[in-house]
Amino acid sequence: MPVITEIEDLRKIYERRVPRMFYDYAETGSWSEQTFRDNSSDFDLIRLRQRVAVDMTNRSTASRMIGQDVAMPVALAPVGLTGMQCADGEIKAARAAEKFGVPFTLSTLSICSIEDVAEHTTKPFWFQVYTLKDDDFMRRLFDRARDAGCSAMVITLDLQVQGQRHKDLKNGLSAPPKLTVKSVANMMTKVQWGLGMLGTKRRFFGNVVGHAKGVTDPASLSSWTAEAFDHALDWDRVRELIRMWGGKVILKGILDAEDAKMAADAGADAIVVSNHGGRQLDGALSSIRMLPPIMDAVGDKIEVHLDSGIRSGQDVLKALALGAKGTMIGRAFVYGLGAMGEAGVTRALEVIHKELDTTMALCGERNVADLGRHNLLVPEDFTGRWA
Ligand SMILES: Cc1cc2nc3c(=O)[nH]c(=O)nc-3n(C[C@H](O)[C@H](O)[C@H](O)COP(=O)(O)O)c2cc1C
Repeated sequence: MPVITEIEDLRKIYERRVPRMFYDYAETGSWSEQTFRDNSSDFDLIRLRQRVAVDMTNRSTASRMIGQDVAMPVALAPVGLTGMQCADGEIKAARAAEKFGVPFTLSTLSICSIEDVAEHTTKPFWFQVYTLKDDDFMRRLFDRARDAGCSAMVITLDLQVQGQRHKDLKNGLSAPPKLTVKSVANMMTKVQWGLGMLGTKRRFFGNVVGHAKGVTDPASLSSWTAEAFDHALDWDRVRELIRMWGGKVILKGILDAEDAKMAADAGADAIVVSNHGGRQLDGALSSIRMLPPIMDAVGDKIEVHLDSGIRSGQDVLKALALGAKGTMIGRAFVYGLGAMGEAGVTRALEVIHKELDTTMALCGERNVADLGRHNLLVPEDFTGRWA
């Protein structure tokens, strides 16, 4: 196994092993990619306060997210088409998360179905829904998630309409991939990926094909996705969906203090401060920059998680020290999955865990629960004066 010391090592292997179309799908932001870049570079603006001669024995990264025990407060974010990054990708990622002791979130737009993932895991996972017009389909998704024992519903609010990612259009992104001269030539160089795909039946959107009205084959899927998203979504509908599920709810895609207040009032259990990894509103501020005003607005009312831009345990620590109770990683685990399957996801989690644990020690802390603003050096104008 190559020596992996940081997430960037996994990204480089991932780039070599996975067809260009799927690499580009993950490693891109919308339009100019300004928000995508800011998500990571804004973490670098925050520095850490070094402390010495503090007893660093018996450290723990164990914590709780929405009342569930976690080995560290880092969940795997919902990522569509994960099963195209590696054969049976959602099952592999879920198993790695389960063994590590962190939550896995299955996307509506996964390749492996809810039932597939439940069958191959032993602990409850989280399920993510987009808000769709088809009420029957939503109800059935909720029923299926309930039957599969899912312990939380993540409702994504920042994708009523889709931000444009140039590369996906140019590559003709689809699942399974369209066979063009260019895509076939590229796939032929990805032997391991190809053998995996030949060995699995799971190559279509497992939660949709055969379940949504009129979607019986992959060809009818593209017209369904174009039509399916609920452009009319409002807070009444969010409240209705929260009632419909009846269990723990995490509202994902909150980037504004006013929306955070609405989410808390709607009765959700947690929010994820997120801009979808810079894939939706290009020009929006980074998640980490928006965390302090959102904490000021709702930090005492609702549990706050954060994603977008996390590539290290130091990033996780910064989010926790600014008040987040938990974090999510998207690309960081996808790199691992595409690079080395389940073992790669485990490696990504190990890398982040070690960075978090060691950095915590060097900051003079023994427990993630004790991290706070006192561990950070934040530029005075970090949030900025945006009028
Ligand atoms: C390739 C890809 C696909 C994604 N698909 C979904 C999805 O199906 N549902 C969802 O709520 N978010 C989706 N997201 C957003 C992630 O859940 C998460 O917010 C984002 O990846 C966090 O940023 P990071 O990748 O910088 O960690 C996707 C992100 C990526 C990179």
